[in-house]
Amino acid sequence: MKNHFDRIAQDYDKQIPKHIQTHLLKKKSAFMKKRLLAAGKRYRKGLDIGCGTGHYLKKMDHYGYRMTGFDFSKGMVQEAKKQNKGKNINITEGSILKIPHKASQFDFAYTINVMHHLPTLKKQKEALKEVYRILKPGGIFFIHEVNTDNPLFKFYMNYIFPMTSRIDDDDTELWLSAKWIKKNPVKGFICEDILYFTFLPNFLPKFLFPLSVKLESHLEKITKGKQGAHYMALLKKS
Ligand SMILES: C[S@@+](CC[C@H](N)C(=O)[O-])C[C@H]1O[C@@H](n2cnc3c(N)ncnc32)[C@H](O)[C@@H]1O
Repeated sequence: MKNHFDRIAQDYDKQIPKHIQTHLLKKKSAFMKKRLLAAGKRYRKGLDIGCGTGHYLKKMDHYGYRMTGFDFSKGMVQEAKKQNKGKNINITEGSILKIPHKASQFDFAYTINVMHHLPTLKKQKEALKEVYRILKPGGIFFIHEVNTDNPLFKFYMNYIFPMTSRIDDDDTELWLSAKWIKKNPVKGFICEDILYFTFLPNFLPKFLFPLSVKLESHLEKITKGKQGAHYMALLKKS
């Protein structure tokens, strides 16, 4: 699987249309910023786990956070470094199952579409324990995943998405259920909130985009997002 991401690293950013990527980047990073500001001034030092080509690192650095990142694919690390050239961001190779940082180092960490690449529930739990280890007490962990608790998006991710992108070609997806996270599978890591959002499919053409964004925000309001395609879970280390 590591090889899979090495193979696609240089083409990764072409896998999802730019306007969709930018839309998700803005939305997810703004959500994290809002929650970190609400949590207090001490939340400055962050870790991007499975940073991919480094767009989120760049955005969070731009917001003023002191960022560090890692990914277990060498190719992805190279792309993330190119993306963040000249910035004071440490980016290394490493796995979420053995995070290359000491205990209690970070005020917050996040992982975006990484957890479902871990092949078993046991490994996903191990990953949560590793993140718990590197956070300071009171530290926040944001998990971003696709909302496959909604059967429509499970179908989309299993059958439609693979026809439009090579990202999930490695056949190891084990979708992470928000319902499972809510059960607090790791002692001391408390799920404080789950935010659901977005409805727009990746294949939506650019010319339909402005109108669709308005429709999306309307849908988010009336369903309180619960049926949305993505979710962000906020976990706190007690
Ligand atoms: C779908 S990509 C998402 C990349 C990035 N987070 C983003 O949203 O743009 C998944 C990333 O997770 C990384 N990854 C998969 N398993 C990992 C693991 N066990 N530890 C660290 N990174 C991992 C892959 O190399 C890849 O860069």
